[in-house]
Amino acid sequence: MKRLFLSVIAMLTLMGARADEGMWMISNLSAKTDSILHSMGIELTHDQIFSTEHPALNNVIVQFGGFCSGSVVSPDGLVFTNHHCGYGSIQDHSTTEHDYLKNGFFAKKLKDELPNEDLYVDFHLNTYDVTDKLLAATTPDMDEMQRMLVIDSVATVLQEAIEDSVNGIHGEVVPYYKGSKYYMSVYQRYSDVRLVFAPPQCLGKHGGDTDNWMWPRQTCDFSVFRIYADKNNKPAKYSKDNVPYKPVKYAHISLQGYQPGDLCMTFGYPGNTDRYLSSYGIENTMRTVNDNRIQVRGVKQAIMTDAMNSSDALRIMYSSKYAQSSNYWKFSIGQNKALKDLGVIAEKQALEKEILEWAKQKPEERGKYIGILDSLKEEYARSYQQQFAMNLWQESFWSGSDILAFAIKQMIGMAQGKQGDFKKEVEKSFKDIDINTDKKIFAALAKNYVEHVPDSSYLPEYVQVVDSLFNGDYNAYADFLFSKSIFARPADLAQVESLAEVGEDPIFMQAIDLVTLLYKMYGASPIDHYEQLLGDALREMNRDKEYYPDANFTLRMSYGIVEGYSPSKDLTYECFTPSQSIIDKFEKQGSNPDYELIPEVYAWLKKGNFGKKYIDSKSKDLQLCFLTNNDITGGNSGSGMYDKKGRLIGLAFDGNWEAMSSDLKFDTNLQRCIGVDIRYVLSIIEKYGKAKRLIKELTLE
Ligand code: ARG
Repeated sequence: MKRLFLSVIAMLTLMGARADEGMWMISNLSAKTDSILHSMGIELTHDQIFSTEHPALNNVIVQFGGFCSGSVVSPDGLVFTNHHCGYGSIQDHSTTEHDYLKNGFFAKKLKDELPNEDLYVDFHLNTYDVTDKLLAATTPDMDEMQRMLVIDSVATVLQEAIEDSVNGIHGEVVPYYKGSKYYMSVYQRYSDVRLVFAPPQCLGKHGGDTDNWMWPRQTCDFSVFRIYADKNNKPAKYSKDNVPYKPVKYAHISLQGYQPGDLCMTFGYPGNTDRYLSSYGIENTMRTVNDNRIQVRGVKQAIMTDAMNSSDALRIMYSSKYAQSSNYWKFSIGQNKALKDLGVIAEKQALEKEILEWAKQKPEERGKYIGILDSLKEEYARSYQQQFAMNLWQESFWSGSDILAFAIKQMIGMAQGKQGDFKKEVEKSFKDIDINTDKKIFAALAKNYVEHVPDSSYLPEYVQVVDSLFNGDYNAYADFLFSKSIFARPADLAQVESLAEVGEDPIFMQAIDLVTLLYKMYGASPIDHYEQLLGDALREMNRDKEYYPDANFTLRMSYGIVEGYSPSKDLTYECFTPSQSIIDKFEKQGSNPDYELIPEVYAWLKKGNFGKKYIDSKSKDLQLCFLTNNDITGGNSGSGMYDKKGRLIGLAFDGNWEAMSSDLKFDTNLQRCIGVDIRYVLSIIEKYGKAKRLIKELTLE
């Protein structure tokens, strides 16, 4: 009787366990996750998802370039990722004559595929727990700084022990649960990755900033790359003799689509979440990170927009930088809004109260948790101005003028005794800098910093110079600096053998002053330690609940179902967008450049010859983008969306506006993952792009 009762309870729990919050480490999926996946209809065994013994899904997933995710989809090493992940490479190869951003790109033959200097993909080989090894080296009397140093050096030793540069094998030790655990992941890197196909950006980036982070979407956010290897299929630097890489496994693609309620899994490399952050930490993020980012980038982006509107050359030159800046500018606006709208701070406070009461029940055992909330409150308040100033500094100088940032980075490299090939770095960095535009950004942000810095002790030295010698005129100051500095003359700068030669260069001097200022702001803080304890307390309080670790750019899977949502009482979104919706956006809102379609694309869409096999059998339409409730974040971009048989059905590319608070708090009702339907991708490749040779490589089911 008791057993029956228990199994009924278990069944009920499973039925309630619908699509779920959580970014799970695929190398140690628990029995509980397995059973949830089974209750959701998965047809794969645990071993087919992750294995170190035989080919499994983990062999198909790549970390793309250090910032995105992708899937290998052919026996010749083709990789599908997002358009916005390939954007930098597409831009790199674009000129006003060959505007691949605007018109798209297709390599007609293998030899036309375009190499990309710094691009690589990492394959995940294994992950294992190294917590004991790292923590064994620490002692209770160490302060935070000493602890970090010790942990860092043991981690370095472990990483070096497995490094095998000939085979591209390298390890990364990364903290989980804010340092309560450490795991080492082992990867194999391939660094000859070539651009094969990109849609025109009116498809690949359709909706631009207007639609970014929003639903409904029509964006065909994909691009195609190919991994190359040497003749023995081993990783190799770019060489014209390299050949397409033969993967141990590649993803099959389903043409059968999805229905609401169907299981969907994403596999990829989510970058950063802070789901266990305290209410104080959330408030701090809103003010010191988001407010600064929104304000400073607003100033910078206005200058870039003017420049980009003035010529095609400048548009191409700044397009990738602009998109990078505006992506997280809009993110921060949305995150602050959603945190407020959804009452996330109050929710966290209630949880914190619960934790405190739980701790107080057994002070002998849980004593270390009792004071943490007070400590967090105090420490966040004490360091507020400092953190505000540091974030303002970062937005204004590290991510402000490119020339200044270049000088700062070189200066730091010199101080740390690390200097690369200077000439090469100049060439690479200055390729996409327009000196005049950069000077405007430099002046505007130097002034803006002074106007917003919260405490006069964080004022930079240049204030006095501008006030006394330039009458407070920042443009005149910038004119002077740029006319005197070798950093504003890239051709001369490239001739410099070593930084020591630049002497008292005024931009270099400014870089030194600013880095000195940053050091002055910096101070070790116990905040991270208190936050870690708070997370430990939560997990201890709910021992039978499984907590996934925050995203940290390691391989994760999330499971969910295909599902629309209802952002308000009188609005419900279906789970996909129909083909007519992209035409409507252009025809009805054509004055918005983000909805513009180049004539070739418009004509193609109007004609509607999308390819019979890509038409959904139920809707009789080419479905464009779709929604699931998978748990993803930045870094997941390009992640494959897989069905219950482990076949690719889409590529994840965005999240939705109503749940922009999701990096700090997952909202089950509202949070959605936006993906591009793989049939839309294939239709663009085959029918619009006439790239039959790529379709032939794929396995379509
Ligand atoms: N919000 C998306 C992400 O961070 C990027 C979308 C890029 N598109 C754009 N219009 N900027 O993954």
